This record gives sequence, structure tokens and C-alpha cells, in this order.
Amino acid sequence: MAQSSVYQLLADGVSLIIDTSSGTPVIAHWGKDVGLEKFQDELPNLLSESIPYASIDQPESPGVWRENSRGFLGRPALAGHRAGQDWSPRFEIKTIENDSSHLSFLSEDSSAGLEVSVSYQMLPSGVVLVSQSVMNTGDKDYALEQLLTWLPIPDQATETIDFTGRWVLERQPQRRKIQSGTWSREVREGRTSHDYTIVQLATTEGANYQQGEIWSTGLMWSGNTRHLVERLPTGRTHLGAGELLLPGEMILKPGQSYTAPTVVATYSFAGIDQISDRIYRWLRTRENHPTAIRPRPITLNVWEAVYFDHNLEKLIQLADVAKEVGVERMVLDDGWFGSRRTDSAGLGDWVVSKDVWPDGLGPLVDRVKSNGMEFGLWFEGEMVNADSDLYRAHPEWILKTGNRIPPEARHQQVLDLTHPGAFEHVLDSVDAILSKNDISYIKWDHNRVLTEPSHLGQAAVHNQTLAIYRLFDELKRRHPGLEIESCSSGGGRIDLGMAQHVDRFWTSDSNDALERQYIQRYTQIAIPPELLGSHIGPTLGHITGRTHRLSFRAITALFGHAGIEWDLTETNEQERAQLKSWTDYYKKNRSLIHSGKIVRVDQPDETTFVHGVVAQDQSRALFAFVQLRPATGTAPASIRLEGLEPSATYRVVAEQPAGEAMFMSQKSPGWLTGAVLTGEALSRIGLRPPILAPENAILIAIEKTKS
Ligand code: GLA
Repeated sequence: MAQSSVYQLLADGVSLIIDTSSGTPVIAHWGKDVGLEKFQDELPNLLSESIPYASIDQPESPGVWRENSRGFLGRPALAGHRAGQDWSPRFEIKTIENDSSHLSFLSEDSSAGLEVSVSYQMLPSGVVLVSQSVMNTGDKDYALEQLLTWLPIPDQATETIDFTGRWVLERQPQRRKIQSGTWSREVREGRTSHDYTIVQLATTEGANYQQGEIWSTGLMWSGNTRHLVERLPTGRTHLGAGELLLPGEMILKPGQSYTAPTVVATYSFAGIDQISDRIYRWLRTRENHPTAIRPRPITLNVWEAVYFDHNLEKLIQLADVAKEVGVERMVLDDGWFGSRRTDSAGLGDWVVSKDVWPDGLGPLVDRVKSNGMEFGLWFEGEMVNADSDLYRAHPEWILKTGNRIPPEARHQQVLDLTHPGAFEHVLDSVDAILSKNDISYIKWDHNRVLTEPSHLGQAAVHNQTLAIYRLFDELKRRHPGLEIESCSSGGGRIDLGMAQHVDRFWTSDSNDALERQYIQRYTQIAIPPELLGSHIGPTLGHITGRTHRLSFRAITALFGHAGIEWDLTETNEQERAQLKSWTDYYKKNRSLIHSGKIVRVDQPDETTFVHGVVAQDQSRALFAFVQLRPATGTAPASIRLEGLEPSATYRVVAEQPAGEAMFMSQKSPGWLTGAVLTGEALSRIGLRPPILAPENAILIAIEKTKS
């Protein structure tokens, strides 16, 4: 075999090896760097399989396109047909492009009238971006059913972890053994969904946050999706990911092509934390990453303080307390426009309501600005209430099919943004509000699932998804510096596609600190904390009815893009002082929290979390010790701190920036007031934990001593 048929992309210990000797790209290895240069000539030998009885006599490797024509019997990458014909292509490589970080193949089947391409881009963080497309080179329409991206994972990957959830309980992990067959996670909500996994992981047995090998795929897409783990009867396992296309959604006319959502393929040889670290490093090197532009401001969102009850006097009081406690941005939520006095009317009418804002938003914006804060405003531009001027004027502008009006959800329908009139209407009305007022931030909601989402009868989730990306990009173009928060009844539209168009996600409508410990932990597997809104909620949680100390709520909200969602006019002097101390603490530590390596320590005791952030140069770290439930033993498991430089010495001290946690002991361990230890001792021996009441937390600040 000619040496030139083997290609390798390599970065940060991750290798992707592709062999083309069979005429189609075959992924020979995706994982840890194996020193290919020492055995490249042996590769075909190494990969040649036995030929079992009762099989195809000369089996071919199916390669990345997995065609049936190569004898492959699993799910192909490409499915589609031309009125029943051309459903089974066989692609041969036409051109190959390659440089040190990029490899792409263009393959064709001229008799089926199809051309496919795949490109692999190896980023410095070891993340591989995989992009695929298909072009109809025939002279009749081609009905595309799917274009999936597949990556092989080795046989030692025996378990999968993915994430499920619902409103106020997003991103709950589920772990299972990989067995024969296909494990499929599909989303048909027309948005990402609370149940969306963001990334799908395959792991070696028992892999955890710091140990084990992990292979992960995530999609840069915010519409319908499909994530698959397939173990074939041959015993081989693959991860697949792609857009879920509805019937007839993608008809390619001659000369037209379809580009599949890019797949973010991430490998780790050091547990789940390294998956997060690689994804974070990729996102953080983007020029427009929010922290590359400026620090993340403390945000007050007024939704849980006033709901629909907009009253200038009250909001001005809120703005004044916000200033006092150190808030840097105030966001006016739902209820400021049209006839929107409840959630059953007004959606779609993006004009300031004369009833509640007789003098416009100006007086509030002015007060917020003169208090030294930025002003943000809520929109839900993809939606319309039936009881709205917009719907009365344009009932034809909603996604629907079969002359049926889709069932309402939160009394609303979905605007068809693929309709040029609807798109222009939303863009221009939002633009007008932003041009008239000094608004640098919008919270953009999307509060319902899509049912029967069609444009003129044809399924339109794909185009609707592209339309919202286009709309966000155009708003940002017209208003340089504008930041957008993506919300969808909380965390219903958090994904690596939307992360390219917005600056923040609203992680969950649950501000309950205990629930947030879990929701943030798992959402942060793929999304860095600086992109995840995390607010201190009211003392008595509005969603769960739980009561938590301010100290616990504050420590929980610290590890994200922090903010407050609480009627601050109800707070007493002590609470305000504690909030001020917390906002000061956040401002002092945000650059670390938003740039460091994330660490979730594998604690033996499920009643606690130990998580934190370690500076890239290992000079500093900030950890939280969280008592979730009552400890099993009198003395909970030691707090081991991972990610530090083993031979360096560090000063550790407990910190409580927003009031005291509740301690359940006569005396606490001595280190709380300060101790000096090596990184090795902190990882191997750990710190003896304080005994905290459940739903309490303390911070541990760590700084390298000067040697
Ligand atoms: C959704 C959001 C909330 C709030 C309301 C307003 O539920 O998730 O944060 O903005 O809508 O109606």
C-alpha cells in the first residue's frame, strides 16, 4: 500500500487516522496519539479483519459513507432517492485536500448523480470538526432523508452517557452498557429541547470525571437532531450524529446541495473533565467569544421579581437596589409590549405598551444607565399569540400544515420565519426598539415546541433554524456589541450551534440552588460557565418552594455567568450587604472562573459535590464543597482537590462571600482558616471536610505560594 493513502491529523495528544487505500475514506483510528510514524506501513496489516463463515466473501471496509454497495448492513451515512431510484450509491474518491490541520474528501457516484464531501478539521484543543455535504448532480430532484456523520469508537468503549430532561430539570445524565443494536436519542421539537443531550459520550468501563477514555459527539445545530450509538452484529461500535429531517423536508433540485450540521468530535484520555476542557478551549479561542471581548457583567433579571406586573416606580426601586448591591446589567423581561399583560395575548406586537409604559421605556432605561448599569430587554420573536395584532393581520404567517392550526402551547403559535414578510417584520420591529433605546442586550425566548412545522405544507424546521441564526447575525450586524441570551422556557435551546450565534444561555427556569447544582454540572460538560446564566433566586424558591440560605444560593450562582433574579426591594440590610460582598467576590474571581480548567472531583460519597476551576497556569483555583444531602457518615469523605501542580505548594482557605453556611459541628477542621499543602497532598490526602447541613456549601480559595 502506498504510504500516501494514509492521512493523520494530530493535536494535543489526539490523533485521527484515515486510510484511503480502498478508494473510500476509512477512519482507522480516532483517539490517543499512537505514534503512527513508527508503523504506518503496517497499518493495512493491523486493520485487516478475519473473514468469517456465512459472510460476504470479499468484505470491504464500508468507510465513512457506509454504503450498502460495499456489503455494509448497518445504517448508511446517506439515505435518499430519486423517485425510488438512485437509493444505493457507491462513492469513489474524486479529490483529496490536506494540510496539517485539515483533511477533506470529495467522492462521487456519477451514475447515481450524487457527490458527497466530508472534511475534518483538527483544532489545537484536539477537537475535530466534521462537516459533510451532498450535492445532487443528477437531472431530477433527489429526496434526501438523512446525512449522518459516523465515527468509529474502539471495542473498549463499553458504556454510553447522555443527558435527558424536562422543563426545570434539564440535562440529567443516563448511563448504560453498549449492547447490540442502536441506541438513538432523537429530538423532534423543532428546537433543541430540554431533553437534548448536547453531547453524547461513549466511555471505557467506569470512566469518570478524571479517568478513563471518552469519545464524544455534539452537533452544531438547534433544530431536530439524532444522536446514535450503534453496535453492529460484527461487534464494532460507532457514534452517529446528524440532523433529523422530516419527510420531504429536504428535496434537492439538480445542482442543489445540503450541508449537514457540523459534528464536534471530542476525545479524552483523562475522563469527562478533559472533554469539557477541550470544548471550552475551542470555544474560548473564538474572536467573538464573550470573555474575549469583556468580563461578564452581574445581571439582574426582573422576571421573578415582577412577572407581568410592570410598574415604573417599582422597577426604579429595583434599579436603585441593584446599583447598591453591585449589579452591572438590568434586564426587563416579558410584559413590556402590546397587549401582553398575561401570557395569553400580545406576543408578536413588538411595540412598547402605552398602557404600562405611557412615557416609553426611556425613564427606566435612563435610570438604569445613570445607575451605571446596562439595560437589557426580553423578546420572543419567533412566536405569536392568536390574540395579537400581528396574528389578526397575518394569520398565514405561522408554521402549519394540512389547513390545520397546530395545538396552542402557552397560548401561542410559531411564526414562519422562512416567510420573507414574517422575517422582515420581526427583524425590523426588534431593530426599531433597539435603535430607539439604549439597549445592549436582549434575552430571546422560545417557549413552545413545534408541531406540524411546515412552510406551504413542506416541513420547514431546517429552514426555520437557519432563519433564526440569520436573524441573530443580522441584529448583531446592525447593532455592534449587542449581546443575545438564548432562552427556551429555561434550557430548551442550549447547543453548540446556537453557541455560535448567541452570548449566553438561560440554563434553566429553576433558580433552586440544589437543582442548579446538578443542572449546571451537567450542562457544563459541553458549555463553559461564562455562557450559562446562573442567578441567585428568592429565599423561597418560586419553582420548587424550597428555602435556601443566601450563602448556598450565592455559591451555586457563582460558577456561571452570575446574576440575580429576586425582588431586591424585599431584601433587608444584611442581605444587601451580603449580596454586595458576593458581587465584589464574583468580580474579583470571574476571570478565573471564566478561563480556567473545570474540575469535578470524583468523590466516593454521592451526598457531596466538589467542583471548581483551576487557572490554566495552575497558580490559582477556586473550588466549592457542596453538601447536597445529609452526609452518610459522621465525617463526610475527604475533599480531594484535583488539577493542581503536584509538586507546588498552595495556600488554601475557606471563603464565604455571602454569609455563613450552616455548620453541624462543635468545631470545624483547622484548615478552614488557612493551611499550606502541596498539590499532591491536596489530591491524595485531601482536606477533612466540615460537617455542613444539607443544601449548604463553602468555597475553597487556593493560591500557589511564592517559592
Ligand atoms: C420563559 C423564560 C422565563 C421568562 C418567561 C417570560 O419561561 O424561561 O425566564 O422569560 O418565559 O414569559
